[in-house]
Order: sequence, then C-alpha cells, then structure tokens
Amino acid sequence: MSSSNNAPAYVKHAKLKAWVDEMAALAKPDSIYWCDGSQEEYDLLCAAMCATGMMKKLNPAKRPNSFLALSDPADVARVEERTFVCSKTQDQAGPLNNWVDPVEMRATMGKLFDGCMRGRTMYVVPFSMGPLGSHIAQVGVELSDSPYVAVSMRIMTRMGRAVYDVIKEDGYFVPCMHSVGMPLIDAAGKKIDDVRWPCNNEQKWIVHYPETREIWSFGSGYGGNALLGKKCLALRIASVMARDEGWLAEHMLILGVTSPKGEKTYVTGAFPSACGKTNFAMLVPPPGFEGWKVTTIGEDIAWIKPHKDGRFYAINPEAGYFGVAPGTNYHTNQNCMKAIEADTIFTNVAETPDGDVWWEGMTDEPPAKLTDWQGKEWTPGCGRPAAHANSRFTVPATRCPSLDPQWDDPDGVPISAFMFGGRRSDTTPLVAEAFDWEDGVYKAATLGSETTAAIAGKTGVVRRDPMAMIAFVGYNMGDYFKHWLKMGKAVSKPPKIYQVNWFRKNAEGKFVWPGFGDNMRVLKWVVERCQGTAHAKATALGNVPEFDDLSWQGLEFGRDKFSKVVSIDQSDWKQELAMHDELFKKLEGFVPQELAASRLALQERLAA
Ligand code: OXD
Ligand code: MN
Repeated sequence: MSSSNNAPAYVKHAKLKAWVDEMAALAKPDSIYWCDGSQEEYDLLCAAMCATGMMKKLNPAKRPNSFLALSDPADVARVEERTFVCSKTQDQAGPLNNWVDPVEMRATMGKLFDGCMRGRTMYVVPFSMGPLGSHIAQVGVELSDSPYVAVSMRIMTRMGRAVYDVIKEDGYFVPCMHSVGMPLIDAAGKKIDDVRWPCNNEQKWIVHYPETREIWSFGSGYGGNALLGKKCLALRIASVMARDEGWLAEHMLILGVTSPKGEKTYVTGAFPSACGKTNFAMLVPPPGFEGWKVTTIGEDIAWIKPHKDGRFYAINPEAGYFGVAPGTNYHTNQNCMKAIEADTIFTNVAETPDGDVWWEGMTDEPPAKLTDWQGKEWTPGCGRPAAHANSRFTVPATRCPSLDPQWDDPDGVPISAFMFGGRRSDTTPLVAEAFDWEDGVYKAATLGSETTAAIAGKTGVVRRDPMAMIAFVGYNMGDYFKHWLKMGKAVSKPPKIYQVNWFRKNAEGKFVWPGFGDNMRVLKWVVERCQGTAHAKATALGNVPEFDDLSWQGLEFGRDKFSKVVSIDQSDWKQELAMHDELFKKLEGFVPQELAASRLALQERLAA
C-alpha cells in the first residue's frame, strides 16, 4: 500500500499529508495519485477510462475532446434520503435533515471505508471553491477512488497544484472522503472483476459533520453524491460556515443584465433542481430587446458576503456547469449548446451512430437510431427514453459564450435582487416583489415546487423547498430562516426580493408563459424596479407589474393570457397557506416569530 510519502515536493502541508496517510491506511488503496490539475493529466485519465470502458471518446469531428460515461442504472441522481447531517444534537440538524449521532456515524463510516479502495487508486484532488485566494473562496481536498470524479472536479472547480500555493504549509482545507464502495480485492484477498461504472447499490451514504466540517461519501459515483465540492461543500458545509461567519451560501444562479444605456445590474435566482436555472443564467434576450445583454456568473451556487459599500457581493464558487441535458437545445439555451460543442463530459445521454450525443428535446425529430443511456439499441417509439431524465453535461465555465467578464473576480459582483422561483402549475403568479426584507424571507422560506428527476424518487409532487435549499442546508432550517432575517440587517442596501413562476399551466395542461428568452420581460422589469424606474401595483402577494409595465415587443401575449399568469385564486391560496402551515408545523419550535407575523399579514391581505 502507498502512503503520502509519494506526495510531490510542492505539497508542503504536513497535516494534509498526515490525513492522506490516515485515510489510505483505512481505505487501503493500491496506490495514491496526487492530481496536479494539468491538461496532460486530464487527457491521461480520460484515456485510461476509455481503455477500461468507464468513458467513451466521442467522435472528434462532431464533439472535439468530449466523452460519454454511462452510469449504473441505479446510480443516476442525488440520494436525499441517504444524505445525513451529523451535528452533535438532532436539533442542530433540524427536522428537515436526516440525522444520526456523529459518534455512531463515525463507527459506521469506519467499517464501510475499511478496505473499500482495495485494488484501486486513491486520487488526491485539491480544489478551490471560488477564485484562487479570494477572501470569499474555500479550499477542499477530495480523496476519491474514481478517476471520473477526478476529471469532473477539474472541470467543476479550480483544481490542481495552484491550490497548494493557497493553503501553503498550514492553511485551512475541508477534508472530503469519497469512495464508490466497490473494492477490487475482498477482505480475504480474492480478486473482484471491475465493472463499467463501479458503485454500491446496497450502501449509499452522503455524510456531513458540520462541527468539524468534514464530508464522507460512500457508494455513489454520480453528480452531487460524488463531486463533493458542489452540494456537500459549497452548500451544506458552506451554509454552516456562512451562519457562523455572517454570510450566505445559496443554491442560486448569478447573472448580469446590461441595459442599452450600459448600466449593469446583477441579480441572483434560486430555483429548485432542474427548474431551468442554467437556461435562465444564460438567457438570450428575445427580438425587441436589442441593446440588452445577459451575462453569466454562475448557474447553480452563490456565496454572498456583505461588502463595505453596504451591498452584498457574490461569487460563483464553481468553475464549470453540471447541467441537466434533456430539454436543452439551440432554442431553449443557445449559449449552453455552444458551450457543450467541445471539451465536455456527458453522462447518461444517448449516443448517435456517428459518435455524437442526443437527448430528448435536443432536436424536434429524434434520430432514426441511437444507443440509449444504458447502452441498448434505441429507435423512436420503442417506449423508452433515450437519455436518462437526469442525464448531464459537465463543461468548463470558460466555454460559455455569455460568461461575464467578472466571473472570476475575487471580490464578486454587487447584487441588486434575489429572485426565488418554483415549478408551479397554478397558485403562484409570474412575478411578485416582496414589500420588504421580512416579507421576502417569508416568500423564499415558503417556496413550493413540483419535484423533478434531479432527485431519486417521485417526480411532480409539490413539496416545500425553502430558498430552494431543502436538502442543502447543513443545519436546522428554522435557524437558517433566523440567519436570513439577520442578514437583511447586515447591509444598508439589501437586495429587493422577488418570487417568480415560469410554469403556470392552462386547463389543457399547457404552459401559459413562453419562458426561456421571454423571461427577459420579467427580468427587465425587476432590473428597472431596482433602479426605481418601473411601475408596480400593490396586491396581497406583493408588488406586481400590470400588463403595460412589461415590454411586449416581439411577442403576442394579450391581456387575457397575462391575467392567467398573474391571477390570484382565493381557494388556491387557502390551500397554499395550509401547506405553509404544514412546513411550519414540521419546524415547530424553531420558526422565527417574524415569519409567523408575515404569515398572518399575508392571510389578512388575502382576506381584505
Ligand atoms: C444540481 C441539483 O445538480 O440541484 O444542481 O440537483
Ligand atoms: Mn442545483
């Protein structure tokens, strides 16, 4: 077995090396490989995976420098019911997190990880969430027995040698331990044949220790379960850091809007998983919006800190996009399609006979023949989707044509508005501006959305997803609400807060609002509200635009249709308030009284 004495000379961090030794002694890999993050290393690891069948190189004439990976059919999404926040007490984790006593969990992890990397290589993956050395960034080191994780982390984070220049001899890093949970040699020394996508379908554990800020993940090689910088560090652990240090770690996109006059406004958007965050973050203004420009800072996560000028400044801690493929096309997201034309890892999409990729919604007409995401022959009408509903692309941010010039700014960008949106067929209107910070926090805290394929389990049921952070807050949701209320006072110019819904349906079950580029109409109004130039009407739910307050050039969308996306239905809202109450009941004893007061005020406004 190897030890960290094979660490490159530039790794000078004794505690890190000792931790690597300790973890290697536990997991017992055959060898340790220290990633330097170079292009050569990426190419070699991809070539090695192509040799073992874990990845396949796509046709370079169609998708240069791109690969396809097909996962185990049972390892396709985040496993929320197997995700644990192991704080000292259950109350600290709160009623919305799975909790196990950390002492007990450590014993379980100790057993699971004992020998779990036998016969494999353990990759040491140093990464920075956020621009290297930024005062807002955090360093993590992931140990993983998956080369797919190592190459994906190179795309999704600032990964490699330069991270050691940041932590030097004793700088802080978050230890992240990951195993696919399938050793190649059993405890008795017998060899086990490897498979295309190793994972463990009996034991999946995504474990966080918030007090010691550690992450342990076992059994899955997919997405947020395995790329530990993303949901585990940048949201669950970072939310705890943010609470303790007075900032916000949020499940939010960040975009910039430039007006024809050249004024730049940055806004964030929090939407539950697979609700079009990537599309919104890369929005192309529709015809009629000449002179307007939308630029992308991030499409999934924002770290937001009070700045000395009295505003919040945000960075995107990630350096790449791990986006949902189905539905993405040159009409819905032209910038994204251009980004993934090369240098991309695709997972669980279908393959065309000429070595390119395809997924549902990519073209109007499906190809006549494909190999589906499970490697089986596929023809249109065969009754199975060609790509998995949660199939993904992993692509560097630098490939995105709409990338904002300040995306890598260590100080971040000033935020004027927070937008919160769910996927709701009814009830919530197209857009409503909160009356004040507390009303905004209430709207965000009671956000509801129909569930999607990003989470293993049922889809299409409305669940409460406070701040779109339901499985991502590393502590008690009630305390998180308190933290949000407090943060409104941490800056003299807090952002305005908006609730949006692109997903209202008519009686025939069809979306009424065109969405995608046309969301610019709402975005422009939001930006102009922030600048104090747009009109709004006060309603029970907040300040909303009237028909003439939005720009309609280039779109036939009459007053009739508009009233369908902004209407407030009393009986829907009666049910909605009952669902808010259910959430607060689950959080009984932890909900700040300000939210109870907002609840009452809303009920009174609805009744008036
Ligand atoms: C994601 C998610 O992958 O939210 O971004 O599930
Ligand atoms: Mn997400």
